[in-house]
Amino acid sequence: MKIGVVTRNRNSWSSTQLRKALAKHNIPHVCFSFPRLTARIGYKPYLNIGNINILDELGALLIRPIGRGSLEEIVFRMDMLYRLQRLGLLIINSPEAIEHCVDKYDILAILEDKGIPVPRTAVTENVDEALNAFHELGGDVVVKPLFGSRGIGATRVRDPEVASTIFRSLTFYHNVIYIQEFVPHGFSDIRAFVIDNRVVAAMRRVASSWKTNYSQGARPEPTLLDNMLEELAVKSAKLIECKIAGVDILESPKGPVVVEVNSQPGWRGLQSVTRVNIADEIVNFVISELKK
Ligand SMILES: Nc1ncnc2c1ncn2[C@@H]1O[C@H](COP(=O)(O)OP(=O)(O)O)[C@@H](O)[C@H]1O
Ligand SMILES: [Mg+2]
Repeated sequence: MKIGVVTRNRNSWSSTQLRKALAKHNIPHVCFSFPRLTARIGYKPYLNIGNINILDELGALLIRPIGRGSLEEIVFRMDMLYRLQRLGLLIINSPEAIEHCVDKYDILAILEDKGIPVPRTAVTENVDEALNAFHELGGDVVVKPLFGSRGIGATRVRDPEVASTIFRSLTFYHNVIYIQEFVPHGFSDIRAFVIDNRVVAAMRRVASSWKTNYSQGARPEPTLLDNMLEELAVKSAKLIECKIAGVDILESPKGPVVVEVNSQPGWRGLQSVTRVNIADEIVNFVISELKK
């Protein structure tokens, strides 16, 4: 049985690692991007890529980034994953987990409802309310794209006039305004990589500014999590059934807060500071799920 790896770029670092790990385990695989999929209703194959009938020929799909696209493209991609899942295909991560994680409001709301500490955050389509929230949150906030990643577009704002201009332009382009209190973190944070409710590796990301994404130039350092942080990471991933998760934790003066759970985390930076082969761990997990 083949495994499908859905990736924009089969030669990206993480996808290459996955392909190598699959080859090492003698698991045949096929890599493709979403635009190569075709869906059918009323006649078969219900989903195919070229001459591969997904439901007949693949045992599981591993989703690397769901990708950028128009709302229509993204919704269609999710619809296909949901249908494949309904028809019995193993999808990792599940479309539900992907959907929760991709939306920075949804994920934090779920975590808060289940008792996980998260930063105070306000989300609105209304500029005046956003300005109120800017002050409620102490006049030092991070404005983030609701569906962003890799730190792109996240902006620290301390000036009400700048805040007002940003909020107006966001609403003009029909973006939702997402404002979060700035959490002092000493320019470093924790990334915990969770597979099947276990932290397989973690790192401290040390930056020269407040954004600590590896893709923004932060330096990974090996770190061992204490029990509290480990539990926080595992619980956050588990609450949304995110089987492969990158959990970002800021250590604020008031204690740790979870800022997001990534359902399609890369691991290049993390791999450079851990002996655990993360791609192997992912493949072993997929094999164990297939045996269930
Ligand atoms: N509320 C915050 N206060 C301070 N720094 C933050 C805050 N939120 C995010 N950051 C920093 O910005 C980075 C990116 O934010 P994050 O919410 O993880 O979004 P992304 O999906 O872009 O990685 C984080 O790793 C962290 O370093
Ligand atoms: Mg992040």
